[in-house]
Amino acid sequence: MPYTKSDEPHHSFSYQIAYLVNILGLCSWLYLNNHHSSTSTKGVNAINSVAYINGGAAIGKIDEDFICATIDWWPPEKCDFGRCSWGKASILNLDLNNKALFNAIKAFSPLKIRLGGTLQDKMVYEIGNYPRPCSQFAKNDSEMFGFTQGCLSMTRWDELNIFMNNTGAHIIFGLNALHGKITRQGKAIGAWDPSNSKALMKYSVERGYVIHGWELGNELSGNGVGVRIDVDDYANDTRTLHNVIEEVYKDIEIKPLIIAPGGFFSTEWISRFIDKSSDSIQVITHHIYNLGPGTLYFIYCQNKYL
Ligand SMILES: *[C@@H]1O[C@H](CO)[C@@H](O)[C@H](O)[C@H]1NC(C)=O
Ligand SMILES: *[C@@H]1O[C@H](CO)[C@@H](O)[C@H](O)[C@H]1NC(C)=O
Ligand SMILES: *[C@@H]1O[C@H](CO)[C@@H](O)[C@H](O)[C@H]1NC(C)=O
Repeated sequence: MPYTKSDEPHHSFSYQIAYLVNILGLCSWLYLNNHHSSTSTKGVNAINSVAYINGGAAIGKIDEDFICATIDWWPPEKCDFGRCSWGKASILNLDLNNKALFNAIKAFSPLKIRLGGTLQDKMVYEIGNYPRPCSQFAKNDSEMFGFTQGCLSMTRWDELNIFMNNTGAHIIFGLNALHGKITRQGKAIGAWDPSNSKALMKYSVERGYVIHGWELGNELSGNGVGVRIDVDDYANDTRTLHNVIEEVYKDIEIKPLIIAPGGFFSTEWISRFIDKSSDSIQVITHHIYNLGPGTLYFIYCQNKYL
């Protein structure tokens, strides 16, 4: 996820795009220069590769403080292939009094921390108009992504902001892009309802919480993961987010970045999105899983390839 030049709010959009394209350019260049040869080690197929990198010619720039991490929403009940690996590592239950965690984040200051992940699009915030009570995610296999709707309490939001502020971290918060939409056959339709997100933003502004960027949606672009949003709808929703931010932050000098779509790359989808949203967005994000999805990891681990 390249958050490029994000310390300069409203930085030239074309620069961000140029960077994205350059990254992609680098990837294909590396691919073309890969020489494969197969060998067999202990009965397991291994591939030797040589990658040539031209270190003399920079093709893109990143922030001086370009370093980031994500804290996810997954609850302890999230299990895959018999392993429940998340424990208490969620935004909702991470121990914010842990000294080691505090010092680690502080050591990377200013670390950009993205708060988000799959369940962000099933999350409501305990402010304004939200479905009461403010209940936690509960496991239910019939539900999209395997969990019911979750809720972020304002007590927890306060704790997170105080913790992040004290460590010097910059928050990038992933908003629920499915709010107000209905899902049919893997597609979310209807306009995004920004009211709950707007209430969260207003609350944050009133308390002086500085949010580095608001990102709309997680892996809903292109074909989506579980559910997708058509590009024209997504562009409209991004414009809605832009308008909400203009309104809520009208008296605040430094505006948060508007970020989307945080999904997988599809040339056609992303080109159209950029065409339609260049006025309303500052940063385009995309997700890459170089080691493949969890299923692939499972296959490799089971067979002791890794
Ligand atoms: C799980 O979700 C389905 C569909 O939303 C619902 O009909 C069912 O009652 C839920 N099961 C439990 C145990 O809550
Ligand atoms: C964040 O930290 C700064 C410096 O430590 C402090 O001045 C400011 O009041 C804090 N803001 C909030 C909202 O806690
Ligand atoms: C997007 O917004 C425009 C302008 O408000 C509107 O004309 C158009 O119908 C919307 N598109 C979708 C897919 O909702």
